[in-house]
Order: sequence, then structure tokens, then C-alpha cells
Amino acid sequence: MAGLAADAVPGAFDLAAPGYDLLVGANPGYHRELRRAATALGIADSGAGRRLLDLGCGTGASTAALLSVAPRAEIIGVDASAGMLLRAARKPWPDNVSFVHARAEGLTTLGPFDGIFAAYLIRNLADPDPVLATIHGLLKPRARFVAHEYSVRDSPVAGAIWTAVCWTVIIPAGVVVTRSPKLYTYLWRSVVSFDGVRALRDRLRRNGFTDVRALPACGWQRGILHTFVGQA
Ligand SMILES: C[S@@+](CC[C@H](N)C(=O)[O-])C[C@H]1O[C@@H](n2cnc3c(N)ncnc32)[C@H](O)[C@@H]1O
Repeated sequence: MAGLAADAVPGAFDLAAPGYDLLVGANPGYHRELRRAATALGIADSGAGRRLLDLGCGTGASTAALLSVAPRAEIIGVDASAGMLLRAARKPWPDNVSFVHARAEGLTTLGPFDGIFAAYLIRNLADPDPVLATIHGLLKPRARFVAHEYSVRDSPVAGAIWTAVCWTVIIPAGVVVTRSPKLYTYLWRSVVSFDGVRALRDRLRRNGFTDVRALPACGWQRGILHTFVGQA
């Protein structure tokens, strides 16, 4: 997988975990777009009585976005990187938020959920289709799955902006903070080689999701970052 084996991705995040929040915090709109994506789950009543899963929760940035739109829901964050989860668990959370160390590939018993959020996860999986089928099986009928993901392949302009931003800003900043270019060159390559918008929508449909839509992000990430919504 794009210079880093899929099995090695959570280990690479272990190494990058100490600088992760600093780097994503420097990305204008990162947290705002996560919150916008989380609203696409369509959770009513502030989440009262609902169960939500944040798959690939990392240091908890996406978990915080879920909590902001559904403060009364039970929220479970799952990640395969112990280093990222440690950073998440150290933050102050209300009692309705908990974290589980597990790979997305093995999740079959945690459900059912009223919504599942996966921010920047799907592209990192060796084989996304079985995981998407598992996610579909973990959802209650008509509950939504939201995948927030970079997808540039349908647009040469978006691809060129992504490549320029990676090589002039993201990779140099990643080297300064983590002392290694590995995860950030992988980030660049994994995005240029992953599904475009049409392919990811098709992937969701063939794994059982209906009413599939892709919503564009705002700001510099417009055309690069999309929020994919599907219904179980
Ligand atoms: C780019 S981070 C995103 C973290 C968080 N969702 C956010 O929005 O900031 C991707 C996360 O996916 C996790 N991940 C990668 N492969 C995984 C897998 N197979 N199962 C579970 N988590 C995985 C990584 O450990 C990492 O924490």
C-alpha cells in the first residue's frame, strides 16, 4: 500500500502520535470540516439514547466533532494505534465517551449503532470492501455511515493542488515535527492512488449502502476533501 504496508499503518501512527494534534491544528478548517461532516450523520435530540462509533478515532479529533453534534449520545472511539489512542484517552471526556483498541477489520460485535463515522480511515485499509460490509452490518436499519476522506482522482486540478500543498507544506511540516518523512509521503501517495469521488460512492453502494452522496468541503480543501454519506 503506497510505500507503507497496510499492517504497518497503525504502527506509523504510533510514531506520529505526539505531533499529530499540532499538525492537524495547523491545517485551517480541519476541526471545522470534521464537525460539518459529523452533522451529516443526521443525529436528532443531541444524540439522546443513540450509540455512535468513531472508527479510526486517532487522538480524538473526530470523536470531539461527534461529541459536539451529539453531546448526549454514547460514543465509542476505536483505533488500531495504541499511541494515538493514548493521546485520545488523556483528554478530558464526559462519561458517555469511551475508547477501544481494535482494528477495523475485526469489528463484528460492538454494534448495533445509530451512526458510524470514519474520518480519514478508509483510504488506509488494505481492503476497504470487507470493512465497509462490516460497518454496514454494525448499523441499525436506515442509520447512516459517514466517511470523511480525501478524494482527488476525478479532478486534475484538485490532484495538482493536493500534490503542491503536500510537497511544500505538509511533508516539510511533518518532517520538522516527527523527524521522518515516512507517514507524510505515504499520506500524499495514498490520496493520489485512492478512489476518486465516483469510485468511493460506487464502493459504498456495492457494499450495501443506499442514498449515497458526496458533500464537498469548504476553504482550500474544496474539491480535495469530501464527506461521503450512505444509509444502511
Ligand atoms: C489520519 S488518522 C485520523 C484520526 C481521526 N479520525 C481524525 O480525524 O483526526 C487515521 C487513523 O486511522 C487509524 N487506522 C489505520 N488503519 C486502521 C485499522 N485497520 N483499524 C483501525 N484503525 C486504523 C490510525 O491508527 C489513525 O489513528
